[in-house]
Amino acid sequence: MTARNGSGDKSVSEALKRQAAAMALNDIRSGMRLGLGTGSTARHFVDLLGEKVAAGFECLCVPTSEVTAAQARSLNIPLTDLDTIDRLDVTVDGADEIDPGLNLIKGAGGALLREKIVAASSDMMIVIADASKLVETLGRFPLPIEVNRFALGATRRSLEAVLAQHGAEGGLRLRQTAAGDSYVTDGGHLILDAFFGRISQPEALSRALLDVPGVVQHGLFLNMCKKAYVATADGVRTILSEH
Ligand code: A5P
Repeated sequence: MTARNGSGDKSVSEALKRQAAAMALNDIRSGMRLGLGTGSTARHFVDLLGEKVAAGFECLCVPTSEVTAAQARSLNIPLTDLDTIDRLDVTVDGADEIDPGLNLIKGAGGALLREKIVAASSDMMIVIADASKLVETLGRFPLPIEVNRFALGATRRSLEAVLAQHGAEGGLRLRQTAAGDSYVTDGGHLILDAFFGRISQPEALSRALLDVPGVVQHGLFLNMCKKAYVATADGVRTILSEH
């Protein structure tokens, strides 16, 4: 698979992701309650956090997916949930697209619902990424929309109308596994990937998507992220949001 930083070198891409993850780890203090993201970049953060925990560092974490939970357990990172505690200090997660205001598209890994719940329960969301994720305008990357299985056809028709109203360049595609089965999220839902090309009114689109009854959540994370560490070949850039 080609790395998305354009270098075509997966090991370079992984090294950049790890550098961004290491920067985020510098922001974490002993005793913090953390949200643990999902995806190949967040995986580096969890690995590095596991090394600190093995050396005696104290934290309590809420994972955003079963995959991340399994990784954290394998590293003896203490886990809890948002039924047991009510707030988190920081969530560290990856992203598929990051605009200049730190609005995001997330969900390529299918964990968008838990990721959004965990981020919304956090005092601060930090995104870690390599520079391939930076865009001027969101929408080049397909927007994941998590939907209930019931009446998929009706939900799909309603969403197609929303896409048309918002000038989508492409349509909707039901996400599938490599084996050709429908992809099912940790919450038991399906994902429709929406091909916009350019999302010019993200807030209005967010509201319109959530107005469709079968929609559980979508991958637009607007005004949620306060800081991003973006690894480039020249070092890690820190980007702060104004909201
Ligand atoms: C998981 O559902 C996603 O939101 C990921 O955080 C996002 O896709 C970034 O993943 P990578 O770090 O693997 O690019």
